[in-house]
Amino acid sequence: MQIERVGVVGCGLMGAGIAQVAATAGFETVVRDVSQELLDSGFTRIRQSLAKRVEKGALTADQQAAALTRLRGTTRLEDLAASDIILEAIIEQRDEKLDTYARLDRLCPPATIFASNTSSLSITELMAATGPERRRRFIGMHFFNPVPLMNLVEVIRTVLTDPEVYRQACTFGASLGKTVVRTSDRTGFIVNRLLVPYLLDAVRALEEGVAGIADIDLAMKLGCGYPMGPFQLLDFVGIDTTYYIANIMYEEFREKRFAPPPLLKRMVLAGLYGRKSGRGFYDYADPAKPAPLEY
Ligand SMILES: NC(=O)c1ccc[n+]([C@@H]2O[C@H](COP(=O)([O-])OP(=O)(O)OC[C@H]3O[C@@H](n4cnc5c(N)ncnc54)[C@H](O)[C@@H]3O)[C@@H](O)[C@H]2O)c1
Repeated sequence: MQIERVGVVGCGLMGAGIAQVAATAGFETVVRDVSQELLDSGFTRIRQSLAKRVEKGALTADQQAAALTRLRGTTRLEDLAASDIILEAIIEQRDEKLDTYARLDRLCPPATIFASNTSSLSITELMAATGPERRRRFIGMHFFNPVPLMNLVEVIRTVLTDPEVYRQACTFGASLGKTVVRTSDRTGFIVNRLLVPYLLDAVRALEEGVAGIADIDLAMKLGCGYPMGPFQLLDFVGIDTTYYIANIMYEEFREKRFAPPPLLKRMVLAGLYGRKSGRGFYDYADPAKPAPLEY
């Protein structure tokens, strides 16, 4: 089967980026979110991102226009039924994802490939929400934020994944312009397995009074050559998303290094999600000049 039509579930940070990249690469793409308002804000981000790519010379104006004609938004899950592959990028909550997969499994023909962009849930567990046929056509495709700029995709297989489907998914990932790394279904895969404990440790260092936010960020940027410090990265990824991921990883491994520090939980309860809510470890009132906060 040739992949031509792409469905994306979720038009948040990741879903909008994935839809943009798929449409730019020439695939007819339908993206679904739960309300028109959320779709509209996702499409605004897509238009801004495409315009920036044109400004930088990474895309021509014709390619930008063609990408937009291949892209359609919907609030109806049924509109994804004609897709050859469905990339799921909804919130990192197990029950919400299980429910979505069970519904999609009933809506889609047997040939449709399901791919989850989950950061920390088990692909096998998500797969188990679908019927026996689909289980062979269920994989993980874990993209990185911002999707149009980050060149990596981790492609994850379960014990039941059909090798031909896995090969197709890897080829599809490459056709989106991404470099593919292959990994099996172990919580956190490669990148988050190593990155999440580091980010959580930065929050613990802050809680323990090692240094302030700006100094820790500067130290890791200049001392390790990282493009961003841990708090800048946490705000970028989303404090809520990181909190969900840490909880899931802790539940899986029961190791302290994966446990979300109390400060992270308090920030989620207070609605301080990072860049997307205007405040996290930094205040983004002036987005060009994020100001570190004190916790
Ligand atoms: N943020 C990151 O850096 C990052 C990186 C890689 C993977 N991920 C993973 O990608 C997924 C999405 O994360 P995000 O950062 O885009 O979150 P987000 O909060 O920005 O977006 C999630 C979107 O999903 C929508 N949604 C919720 N339930 C839905 C449903 N049933 N159908 C359709 N849409 C629904 C929400 O309305 C929201 O717009 C998560 O699984 C996350 O772990 C995130």
